Amino acid sequence: MNDNTVIIDEIKRLLGDKTPLAYVRSFGCQLNVSDGEKLKGQLKKMGYGFTEDESTADLIILNTCAVRENAEDRVFGIVGSMKKLKEQKPSLIIGIAGCMTAQSHIAEKIKKSYPQVDFVLGTSAINGLPKLLLDSLRGVKFSADIAEYDDFSAEAEQVRESSFKASVPIMFGCNNFCTYCIVPYVRGRERSRRPEDIISEVEGLVRDGYKEIMLLGQNVNSYGNDLGGEMSFPQLLRRLNAIEGDFRIRFMSSHPKDASNELIDAIFECDKVAKHLHLPVQSGSDDVLRRMNRRYTAESYLAIVDEIRRRDPDFSLTTDIIVGFPDETNEDFEATLAIMERVRYDNIYSFIYSKRTGTKAAEMPDSITDEEKGKRMRRLLEVQRGISTEHYKRFIGRRMRVLADDISKKHDGYVTGKSDEFIIVEFEGDSTLIGQFVDVEITAAMNWAVIGRRIQK
Ligand code: SAH
Ligand code: SF4
Ligand code: F3S
Repeated sequence: MNDNTVIIDEIKRLLGDKTPLAYVRSFGCQLNVSDGEKLKGQLKKMGYGFTEDESTADLIILNTCAVRENAEDRVFGIVGSMKKLKEQKPSLIIGIAGCMTAQSHIAEKIKKSYPQVDFVLGTSAINGLPKLLLDSLRGVKFSADIAEYDDFSAEAEQVRESSFKASVPIMFGCNNFCTYCIVPYVRGRERSRRPEDIISEVEGLVRDGYKEIMLLGQNVNSYGNDLGGEMSFPQLLRRLNAIEGDFRIRFMSSHPKDASNELIDAIFECDKVAKHLHLPVQSGSDDVLRRMNRRYTAESYLAIVDEIRRRDPDFSLTTDIIVGFPDETNEDFEATLAIMERVRYDNIYSFIYSKRTGTKAAEMPDSITDEEKGKRMRRLLEVQRGISTEHYKRFIGRRMRVLADDISKKHDGYVTGKSDEFIIVEFEGDSTLIGQFVDVEITAAMNWAVIGRRIQK
């Protein structure tokens, strides 16, 4: 662990009595959002306050995602537009952090084409922030620290976005090398956090009144593989379930090749573990799955689904799907639609394949046009809409326990939240309910949410 005390003191001295404002924006997955909360934790220690409006900021940090090209394009667009801000306020410091910076061609591009950027901070290298900031405050032109994967960050202080929902990374990196995916290249190999650190973090959060704990990892099912058999993911779930308090546990993501019966047992037997599983299928075609290096088949995937549904025929599943993987045939695509119909997901997160430099799939010939990919995507969404419309009806008449999240943007006088099953539920109520569990009886179903009535206790 690096000791940053001297640097932080120096920054405080330079800043004097002012409380400068930082704007930190995270893109991509929840692991990245969690890193953003730790960046804020570091900034708080240095005396920064926070703003949601970049035009009032003295420091801007974009915590980036590299998973698809459009995510990167968005960041370049935003950095481009910040040139003006910098002209208006030359003392403004702009930093780029996160997964984009771990690709050398991107780091080069930033350095060459975006002189408004003051520093680049490597993936999870949160501990390097104070030094870079000090350089920038002293006027060093372009400083970079892409020292990778600083696991000190796991235990770093954080400024959390929510006061009732908390993300807790249990591991970092990925060993799976799905052929389309950049994550293993930008996040390094799998590293599990110490079980006692995770347990005490969750205990602390529950003490602080947090109602939902989201355990995060690129593949939580391989948690503990590097801990010499000390603790597996299902064991961790059971251990966390034993913590006293009124809260629920979620987790993401669960790779189908490692989803074991022990995992399913733990989900069903632990009362605090939400009854929902996000099980990314990516494709329904065995040939595509093989070329993706997913290491399961449609049949072995369905065996997991069947085991879950044997125990609870209505169990909620969600998934990720990639449309238009290189040379995906019409039959391959039809196989994806078929698996969707067979599983009946409550929700899918679908993406058009995006070529990532450095991955294996980027070398594969790809004869499908963008137009065809777009067409398939629209068809996929239409099929899922039909499934959701039908499938959500099963909740009508049931009671759901909902963690109220926010005021509804669609219905006046309504509150929105998520049920245990990860379903969006809207019901009449006001902002005093936000952050609380509410029992709701479901009265109507739409294709994106269900509507209900609050049950007064
Ligand atoms: N570790 C998680 C996924 C993290 S990325 C898992 O394996 O489930 C989230 C999703 O982005 C993936 O499940 C995949 O569907 C999608 N994705 C990843 N790389 C992609 C690419 N190159 N093009 C399109 N979608 C991609
Ligand atoms: Fe990417 Fe596959 Fe790892 Fe998920 S499991 S992060 S899709 S390589
Ligand atoms: Fe994106 Fe990095 Fe997450 S590439 S999806 S922010 S691990």
